[in-house]
Amino acid sequence: MRGWMGKFRSLFLFGALTMLLTGCGIENISALKPKGYGSELLFDLMLISIAIMIFVFVIVMAIYAFVLLRYREKKGQEHIVPKQTEGNKALEVIWTVIPIILLLVLAIPTVQATFDLADQSTQGDEGVLTVDVTGNQYWWQFDYADQEISTSQEIYIPTNERVYLNMKASDVIHSFWVPAIAGKMDTIPGENMNTMYLEAYEEGVYEGFCAELCGPSHSLMYFKVIAVSPEEFDQWVEDMQNIDPEETATASEGQELFNNNCMSCHAIGGASAGVGPNLGNFANREKIAGILQPSKENLVDWIVHPDEIKPGNQMPAELVSEEDAAKIADYLLELDHSDVGNDLEMQSVEE
Ligand code: CUA
Repeated sequence: MRGWMGKFRSLFLFGALTMLLTGCGIENISALKPKGYGSELLFDLMLISIAIMIFVFVIVMAIYAFVLLRYREKKGQEHIVPKQTEGNKALEVIWTVIPIILLLVLAIPTVQATFDLADQSTQGDEGVLTVDVTGNQYWWQFDYADQEISTSQEIYIPTNERVYLNMKASDVIHSFWVPAIAGKMDTIPGENMNTMYLEAYEEGVYEGFCAELCGPSHSLMYFKVIAVSPEEFDQWVEDMQNIDPEETATASEGQELFNNNCMSCHAIGGASAGVGPNLGNFANREKIAGILQPSKENLVDWIVHPDEIKPGNQMPAELVSEEDAAKIADYLLELDHSDVGNDLEMQSVEE
């Protein structure tokens, strides 16, 4: 860049960087585009702290620039060392008190938000939903104890209602994080149960992550929060309650193979499966195993070689032949017991 453009080079760079960074806020994934109560609270805290930092930066830079210009040595001027000050009480007090005030301005809303996010005052009230969340290597289990249903990888919640989560882990520490709706919370094995709540403002599919290094497939431990209207949510619960594992599927051969090979870990409908995910609404899922596009080919791949797709996971590899896996896939892809939420669009990070 030459001439006048050269002078503005840093401005161009700054502009280009700004354009690039605006791409960071992907809808329904980003904490910078809050779509829920918790994330909005956290976003407001970010704005306050950024505002304070900009305020401090501007004042310091202004004083710095003023001193540079006002007191610089001019041509022909005699070289002098300015008078040295020390132990100026007034100055010491000023630059101690100002940071204290700034920290207080930061601390008050932060402490308020911390208590607000830990509030459980309505848990257990009539009509208030609580979901038990269990983190497993490398999938999430969601048990709706009062409704006597269980699902995995995709948690359904009604919009504009507080949904409490009771959280633990079955193996190692994981961390449940849905940036667009709420903050994150660790799930810990043993007796220690953590709690948080979700409240989504808009219907949508929100991407969730495991935010605690938990093994080789930690980065593949995606899940979704599917927020639907309260009416649709009730419909979903009813659909889930009506799943009958005994009902003979069209792909009956696959069903039999599934029952014989997979049911010791998995379940179809009803309560939680324990070892592996409950697959009652498998065909309604956005993804296979949280990461693969839903297709028969991908499903067969997953059934035969789960170790290659999610290294270190507990599902045994090559338990069935590819031929049998194809039959099982036919059966699993029939399990579309609820069309609630199917119309919701989602953006995804892995695409
Ligand atoms: Cu589970 Cu990282």
